[in-house]
Amino acid sequence: MNLVLILLGLVLGSAARDPIGQNLIVILADGYGATLLNNTKPDATFGIRHLATNGVQVDYVTPSFPTHTWPQWMSLSTGLYTENHGFTADYMWDRKTNFTFERGTGPNDTEDVWWDDAKAPLWYTAGKAGVDVHCYWFAHCHRAFYDMVVQVPEKRWANLDDQHQTDNLRDIFPEIANRISKYQVYKQQMFLIRYANIGNAQKEHGPESDEVEQEVARFDLYINELQQLLEDRGLFSSTNLVVMSDHGYTPLQKEEQFFMEQCLPDYSLVKKVVNSHSMIMVFTNPEDEGTVHYEFSVCEVWSPMGDYDENDTPFVKTYRMSELPDDLHWKNSRFMSGVVLITKPGTSVVTKELPTVPHSGDPTIDAKQASGWEPYHDDMKGIFVARGPAFRENERFGPIEIVDVYQMLLNILSIEPAHPHNGTWTNVENMLSEGWENRGPVDSSAFRSSGTLLCSIFVLLHFFF
Ligand SMILES: *[C@@H]1O[C@H](CO)[C@@H](O)[C@H](O)[C@H]1NC(C)=O
Ligand SMILES: *[C@@H]1O[C@H](CO)[C@@H](O)[C@H](O)[C@H]1NC(C)=O
Ligand SMILES: *[C@@H]1O[C@H](CO)[C@@H](O)[C@H](O)[C@H]1NC(C)=O
Ligand SMILES: *[C@@H]1O[C@H](CO)[C@@H](O)[C@H](O)[C@H]1NC(C)=O
Repeated sequence: MNLVLILLGLVLGSAARDPIGQNLIVILADGYGATLLNNTKPDATFGIRHLATNGVQVDYVTPSFPTHTWPQWMSLSTGLYTENHGFTADYMWDRKTNFTFERGTGPNDTEDVWWDDAKAPLWYTAGKAGVDVHCYWFAHCHRAFYDMVVQVPEKRWANLDDQHQTDNLRDIFPEIANRISKYQVYKQQMFLIRYANIGNAQKEHGPESDEVEQEVARFDLYINELQQLLEDRGLFSSTNLVVMSDHGYTPLQKEEQFFMEQCLPDYSLVKKVVNSHSMIMVFTNPEDEGTVHYEFSVCEVWSPMGDYDENDTPFVKTYRMSELPDDLHWKNSRFMSGVVLITKPGTSVVTKELPTVPHSGDPTIDAKQASGWEPYHDDMKGIFVARGPAFRENERFGPIEIVDVYQMLLNILSIEPAHPHNGTWTNVENMLSEGWENRGPVDSSAFRSSGTLLCSIFVLLHFFF
């Protein structure tokens, strides 16, 4: 009898200690740009540096165009550029239905028109492969995708209008550690978490403000605390922690703000103005496109004729949709306008009178900083720092693109990407510790084998009694 008990103890004990695969915690810090990190004092980057020393860090992450939030969320969760994932900008307008999309917070944002043909997001693919997914204020993670929905309590749905939604980030750390400890032997655990305060502080208070400094320091403290907790609980042998951002911000220059009305003799030619400041989609009737494009191209307000130096970047570049640069991977997007304005970083174009989304009273219009510019501007670039069993230690790498991250996160979970994507494997391969090739897709054999063991124990017990 004793023998059986010992056997039982051994089998259960050893089975209970082995995680079924690697776990993943991704923390996405809104607006924590690479230049902000570079300019932050060392005492407010202790947590990030601790992460980097024990893992990997890249010089920067190139976002997708436009460098708004939603396009990045989609690129991160699908590995696709904007023209392939379909979320054209934070604000969109569908001419046919007259619906507007307003960064997920508008009354018509759940309409099918935005979500038809959506590509399988990371959490769906992981969930289908048997990974336990937990989302905290993360993108549209709560939204059902075909046959599966990740259960996310409503207070954890991302809400870009709620400035304080992610204030209690640190409060969720104990439940994360507990969940991993308790359930990793049965299912891999994935946590997708968003932290909004650094981005919010930059928009509201501007660069180099005390508020931004405090939020960066607070976030760093949390990142340090979480590592401490995972270290104390011995969880870094099975769990990877990724800290990254969507894009950075640039200050808006008050003296470089222009009103579209200043260029337009006839306001009625413009049907809708979508987005503001950095990238503006101008919708017209097809027959008026040429006129509107011409008026904006020659507008003296923002393209002075006199002592204009040809090498200066113009304040505003006016494009027809077909002339947009290919390397933005944007012009074949859905819900595109015939005319597009892209400003010089810091320059802002807004409207008072034209029909617009966001409407002119929207708080984003009065922001001190903005994003949306071309991804190659330093201030738009994001960060990526990570540690855990999947990553090398204390190594720094060149830049990656945000579309590269999807394939890497899935690789860590041993899952094949659900669709062809735009990530480049050689950009991320060297960050991964040896053996990634053998990680292979998990069949649930580990789970089954512990099930089999239990069965045989019951048989044994039966035999002895
Ligand atoms: C489209 O919607 C806007 C407001 O959402 C409304 O003011 C306008 O009249 C609508 N246009 C049409 C053609 O329905
Ligand atoms: C958007 O949604 C609101 C509330 O559900 C509805 O009243 C409105 O008509 C919708 N807008 C359009 C353009 O259909
Ligand atoms: C931040 O600093 C690193 C290291 O000095 C550099 O490689 C990187 O390009 C900088 N990032 C930006 C956006 O300036
Ligand atoms: C991005 O990936 C999609 C899907 O595979 C593909 O159709 C598209 O051509 C890719 N874009 C680029 C620039 O490679």
